[in-house]
Amino acid sequence: MKPNHTNPNSHAWVDRLWALAKNIIFGISQPIIEVIYGIRKDTILYWPLITWGIVFDVLILSGLDQTIFKWLKIYWLYPKNPIAYTFYAFFGVTLGFWIWGAIQARRKVNMIERLTQVFVESGLKSPMGKLPSFISDRPVDELVRKLKVTNAFMPKAKFEEARERLESSLQVYIDEITENRSGGTVDILYSHFEIAKMVEANNISSLGPNRFFVGQTRAKPIYSSLTETPHLLIGGQTGGGKSTFLRQLVTTLYFNNQSYKFSMIDMKGGLEFQIFEGLPRMAVYSTFEDAKTLFEEMDKMLTERMKILKHNNAKDIEAFDAIPISQKTRPKDVSDESMDIQRQIIVIDEAAELFLSSSKSNIGEVQELTRRAIRVAAQGRAVGLHLIVATQKPDSKAVNSQIKANLTGIISFPMATLGASFSILGNGRAKELPAIPGRAIWKNGLDQFEVQTPYLNPQDTKKLLDRSTKDTSNG
Ligand SMILES: Nc1ncnc2c1ncn2[C@@H]1O[C@H](COP(=O)(O)OP(=O)(O)OP(=O)(O)O)[C@@H](O)[C@H]1O
Ligand SMILES: [Mg+2]
Repeated sequence: MKPNHTNPNSHAWVDRLWALAKNIIFGISQPIIEVIYGIRKDTILYWPLITWGIVFDVLILSGLDQTIFKWLKIYWLYPKNPIAYTFYAFFGVTLGFWIWGAIQARRKVNMIERLTQVFVESGLKSPMGKLPSFISDRPVDELVRKLKVTNAFMPKAKFEEARERLESSLQVYIDEITENRSGGTVDILYSHFEIAKMVEANNISSLGPNRFFVGQTRAKPIYSSLTETPHLLIGGQTGGGKSTFLRQLVTTLYFNNQSYKFSMIDMKGGLEFQIFEGLPRMAVYSTFEDAKTLFEEMDKMLTERMKILKHNNAKDIEAFDAIPISQKTRPKDVSDESMDIQRQIIVIDEAAELFLSSSKSNIGEVQELTRRAIRVAAQGRAVGLHLIVATQKPDSKAVNSQIKANLTGIISFPMATLGASFSILGNGRAKELPAIPGRAIWKNGLDQFEVQTPYLNPQDTKKLLDRSTKDTSNG
C-alpha cells in the first residue's frame, strides 16, 4: 500500500457535515423566502394556514397537546425544557406556513431540473455551449408566473424560437418573453391557464381619445393608440376575425373621437361595413373607381397638409393642434376649410381585392393607386392620415412591401401556412394559433402577445354609433 498523506476519511466527514449544513440552511431559508413572496404577491393560502395556527394555539393553551402526545405514546418527545418548548410552540403554530413554503420550494427544485433538460432539448445553448440557468420563479398574480433565467449570452429571438418547445415541455402557456440585456437575464411570463375564448368589448366607450382595445392576454388587457401605432395591418385566413376587429376598432375610434373622419373600402360589395353606411363622418366605398378617387383626394390632402404644417413650423398634427387658432397662418393657395386638420382614417378590408384588381385595361390605374397608398403609409402619420389594412394574404403581391413596412401595428389571426405567418410576423406563431375566432398575435415593434381580440356584437355597435351621431348633432 502506498503511503497516504491526506486522510480520506476525515475529508469525507467534513464534506458530509458541510452538505448537511447546506441542506439545513437551504431547507429553512427556501420555505421562508417562498412564504415572503407568497405574502407579497398575495398567493399564499391564508385561511387554512391561519386556522391551523389558531387550532394549535388552543391545543397548547388547553394542554390538550400533551394528551395527544401521551395517546400516541410519544410523550417522551414532548419538549420539557423552556428553550425546546419555545421552539415547539413556534414551529407548531407556524407549521402550515413551513409546509406551504416547502412545497413551493420543492416545486422550484423540480422546475430547475426540468428547465435544464428543456434548455438542452430546445437547443438553447450559446455558441460557447453555455445553458441559461434558473434565477427565480415567482407569481405575478393568481394566473401568471414569471420565470427569470440568465440569457447565457443569447438574444431574446433565440428564446422566442424555442417558445413552443418550452411550452410543451414545461406544460405551460407562455405569454411574453422579455429581455434585460444589461442584467443578462430573460423573463418568461407563463401560465397554466388558457386565454379566455371570448372577450366582450364593453369598456371601449370609456377609452378616451385616440386609444383602442387590442385584446386580452392571460395577464392583462392591451391597448394601443394611433399615436403609438399610426398604421395597422390585420391579417389572417378566412374566418379569423379581421372584419369583426375592424368594425370594433372603427366604432371605438368613431365614438371616442368626434372629429375623426373615416373612409371605408370594402371591395366585397360593402357588406362588411354596411353598419357604417349613412353616418355623418363615414364614407363607404365598394368599387375600384370610388377607391381610386378617394386616394387621389388623400394624395392632395397629404400635400396640402404638409404645406400647412411647414408654413406653421409644426412638425406634426399634434404640434399644429397645440398652436392657438389665432396664431395659425394659412399658406396663400390653401382654403380656410383645409386649415381644419382632423385625423382621417382609411380602412381597407381585403386589400388583395383592391391592389390585385388590375386587368389589362386598368393596370396603370392600380399602380397609381398603389403609389398613392404607399405615400399615405410612409408620410401620413405626421399629417393625421392613417391607414388600416386587412388582408387574407400578407405577401407582397397583395400588400406592397413599402406599404407593409409602414404598417407597424400588426394583428395576425390564424394563418394557414408557415410562409404566410412568417410573411406577416417574421415567425411561425400565426400558424400555431388555435382556431378560435378572435384569437390573434399582436405585434408592435419587438413586442408580441397572444391575445383574444374584443368582440363587439352588432347591437352594441349600432347603439354606440347611434349615440355618437346624436352627440354630434346635439353638440
Ligand atoms: N373577437 C371575436 N370573438 C368572438 N367571435 C369572433 C371574434 N371575431 C370574429 N368572430 C366570429 O368569427 C366569424 C368570422 O369573423 P370575420 O368575418 O370577422 O372573419 P374574417 O377574418 O373577416 O373572415 P374573411 O376573411 O372571410 O372576411 C364571425 O362569425 C364572428 O362572429
Ligand atoms: Mg372579412
